[in-house]
Amino acid sequence: MIPYGLQWIDEEDKEEVMKVLSSDWLTTGPKVGEFEDALCKYMGCKHSVAVNSGTSALDIAVGALDIPEGSEVITTPFTFAATSNSLLYNRLNPVFVDIQKDTRNIDPEDIRRKITPKTKAIVYVDYAGHPCDIKKIKEIAEEFNLYLIEDACHALGASYCGKKIGNFADLTVFSFHPVKPITTGEGGAVVTNNSELAERARLLHSHGIDKNATERYGPDAGWAYDMKMLGRNYRMTDIQAALGTSQLKKLDMFIEKRREIAEFYNELFRDCEFVETPVTKDDVKHGWHIYTILLKDVNRDKVFLYLRKSGIGVNVHYIPIYHFSYYQKHFNINENYFPITEDIFKRIITLPIYPKMNDEDVELVVKTIKAYTFI
Ligand SMILES: Cc1ncc(COP(=O)(O)O)c(C=O)c1O
Repeated sequence: MIPYGLQWIDEEDKEEVMKVLSSDWLTTGPKVGEFEDALCKYMGCKHSVAVNSGTSALDIAVGALDIPEGSEVITTPFTFAATSNSLLYNRLNPVFVDIQKDTRNIDPEDIRRKITPKTKAIVYVDYAGHPCDIKKIKEIAEEFNLYLIEDACHALGASYCGKKIGNFADLTVFSFHPVKPITTGEGGAVVTNNSELAERARLLHSHGIDKNATERYGPDAGWAYDMKMLGRNYRMTDIQAALGTSQLKKLDMFIEKRREIAEFYNELFRDCEFVETPVTKDDVKHGWHIYTILLKDVNRDKVFLYLRKSGIGVNVHYIPIYHFSYYQKHFNINENYFPITEDIFKRIITLPIYPKMNDEDVELVVKTIKAYTFI
């Protein structure tokens, strides 16, 4: 089976992890600090808090905003469940808006239509690693005084108007799950240029306690500490962070390889009438976390089964969040409000893409799709 995503772990990564395993310190320590500094340096942003998953990162990013319970937060339904679940953890109401057909990112015009006096924030997702229409989203946020969280779990290393993702929203969130741009096994980070939000996110990631391990256990440390907020244990380990720092050095190479694969797919599909290939807008550097196509005049589910049976690890990103029984039960959202999301959902399929994928693999995927016969 050619998987839809796969990590790239080399000898250097293994050596860095082994160094930590051979040391006295496994959990959150100097390697986490080094990884956080490396993330800031890479993105050119001021603060970062490394955590144990992208979901945890979303939870503390939302929590850091400290907005009143019951407030509305606008977001996309075309994402992984964690995006809107993070609002529920914080007792906020997700308000879904439709997406744009070309990028599958949140539609700024529909954001405007869904704003009410209760709206306090927008959580937008850079779908597949293609940055959203950030300029328009920021204009809306400024006009209505809304916070912005960028769920950039797909978009580490991507840029918008020449600037790295991580510098646009009040807080930006990343995931380091193995299929993501870089991996720490499981892991995530929140980055921001706002020192107050950074401080709150840092408190929330470790019980709301105001002293870290070095401050509590070092030679000059006293026993006292305070718990200032109701936080969690979302800490990353030094083992994960050592892997993260090593992976980050290869990120630009990973993205370059992903871009080459995406372009090769686009070229090979040029003469295929039942396949629509994805677009890249002029003002972005795409991260190519996933490569998705839209099928025309063929049944997606039949093509999906045919490809899986043929050894191609296809996927569907995403089932719109309001389809899930939990969301139906609690929010009873009518899918007719989301014509674009519904159309895309019925026709989309995710094809394999990962840095180690070679030309023969790409050719095999495309050849298999082209060989699909309509029944
Ligand atoms: C858009 C998006 N947000 C959040 C997450 C959650 O990240 P993690 O799996 O690291 O918790 C994911 C993971 O798939 C994602 O794709």
